[in-house]
Amino acid sequence: MYQDPILAASAQLVAEARERNIHFDPPRMSAGEKEQLLRTYHPDYREDQFEILTVGPSKGSKVPRELAALLQGRSRIDPAALDLTKADFETDVLVIGGGGAGAAAAIEADQAGARVLVVTKLRMGDANTMMAEGGIQAADKPNDSPAQHFLDAYGGGHFAAQKDLLAKLVTEAPEAIQWLSSLGVEFDKTPDGTMITTHGGGTSRKRMHAAKDYSGAEIMRTLRDEVLNRGIPVVDFTSAIELILDETGRCAGAVLMNMETRELLIARAKTVILATGGAGRLHYQGFPTSNHYGATADGLVLGYRAGASLLYPDTLQYHPTGAAFPAQIFGALVTEKVRSVGAMLINAKGEAFMNPLETRDVSAAAIIRECSDRGNGVKTPAGYAVWLDTPMIERKHGEGTIEKRIPAMMRMFGKYGIDIRKDPILVYPTLHYQNGGLKITVDGQSDVENLYVAGEAVGGIHGRNRLMGNSLLDIIVFGRSAGAHAAAKAASVTPGRPTLSHVEAFHQALAEAGVDTGVLSPRLLPTYNSLGRDF
Ligand code: FUM
Repeated sequence: MYQDPILAASAQLVAEARERNIHFDPPRMSAGEKEQLLRTYHPDYREDQFEILTVGPSKGSKVPRELAALLQGRSRIDPAALDLTKADFETDVLVIGGGGAGAAAAIEADQAGARVLVVTKLRMGDANTMMAEGGIQAADKPNDSPAQHFLDAYGGGHFAAQKDLLAKLVTEAPEAIQWLSSLGVEFDKTPDGTMITTHGGGTSRKRMHAAKDYSGAEIMRTLRDEVLNRGIPVVDFTSAIELILDETGRCAGAVLMNMETRELLIARAKTVILATGGAGRLHYQGFPTSNHYGATADGLVLGYRAGASLLYPDTLQYHPTGAAFPAQIFGALVTEKVRSVGAMLINAKGEAFMNPLETRDVSAAAIIRECSDRGNGVKTPAGYAVWLDTPMIERKHGEGTIEKRIPAMMRMFGKYGIDIRKDPILVYPTLHYQNGGLKITVDGQSDVENLYVAGEAVGGIHGRNRLMGNSLLDIIVFGRSAGAHAAAKAASVTPGRPTLSHVEAFHQALAEAGVDTGVLSPRLLPTYNSLGRDF
């Protein structure tokens, strides 16, 4: 029950329209309609929010303004002042990042017999993986195939995915589910043990495997246990702030910083895997985010300064349904599964204004249009939003469905007195995912020899828009693969002379181009304090 009389009246209108809406199947948009909608309303098309890079391996590329300042920022260290010959850590494979991709990589590198070290700026599992809700895709049912999965994802990504990467993703998906199950992930199953699968936006088959609506937490719990059970060393609250190369330009370790004491540490490694995750905490264009506290694109900055190029850095995913009310959960993820199990998007007039399972970029743009030019948004304390009619789920599938299928959503809103079984909820797009990132080969190697990348820091797997459930999948497929390849490569590496001369060269290039963004990078944590002090 909404206390605010205006919201209460609007929610009542949604309730009155429910019976009509439930029998309405909003048509899918044509390709032309989608194109026009995206160009007019999607934040990726707001030219004034982007900049062209003038320095570095992707010079000439368009990136969000906030990211440009970091990519073309100055190092946090004076490269000439560090003694790289004394290593605090020495290992075969250094994994930077403690989320799902980093954990999967560490497990496979360890399995291959390499010495592995994981460093993470917060704790193991403080990552977007933990925040993922709706599920993980895999074509493992008789009516489905990896080829079908490929077509859905390729079309959903605007035909821009790197075909070899996407083919690997979908082909190895069924095995990824088996691997996770074997480690102990409790996927939802029917009483006879068959995996329950559902649709996501843009899927032509039901191939979303889930653990209720805390799929990412269940996967991260399992991977973290496996890392710890294997005895893989994890150094937490420690950020990588620069990559170390050798005299031939191969990656050879990282400069680390203890997040509490700011002490600098040197980690020497034969190969390095960047698995640093996304960028939601850069709050592009002022959007709220569904991302975890440490999602600041730090891996992109480290890789870029060392010579790794970017792919599609201008394309971000705004999840259509971020919580828009109450303020305490502003921007938090309202999983797509809510729509996949039957809730519809409804505007202030009580109209189901779009098919709820269009792809994410299209859905986000349609909501923004509803709340702007069309004037059909619901006024909230923070702006405008549309309704997601959750009571419709129980009306369609019976009482108890919400508690059984989306209990985390019920709990998240329940804390603030909103019973999503009885009342609809207010949603608006939230910054959710970085579609672009560092360019890799199918084996996970970046442009820099011995530097591998996995997870959200990679660009190109999904093209210019990702379908739900393909990110939990890519962290497993490409995380495992990067771990195995980095371990195999490490076996043949003879360490060279460590150097930070690439940092000096980058500073020189900035000076020559007259670029001074006034920013030290990478940014390690977001700045929310009143002093605006960067960490
Ligand atoms: O809506 C969701 O549950 C998000 C899933 C995803 O980004 O893959």
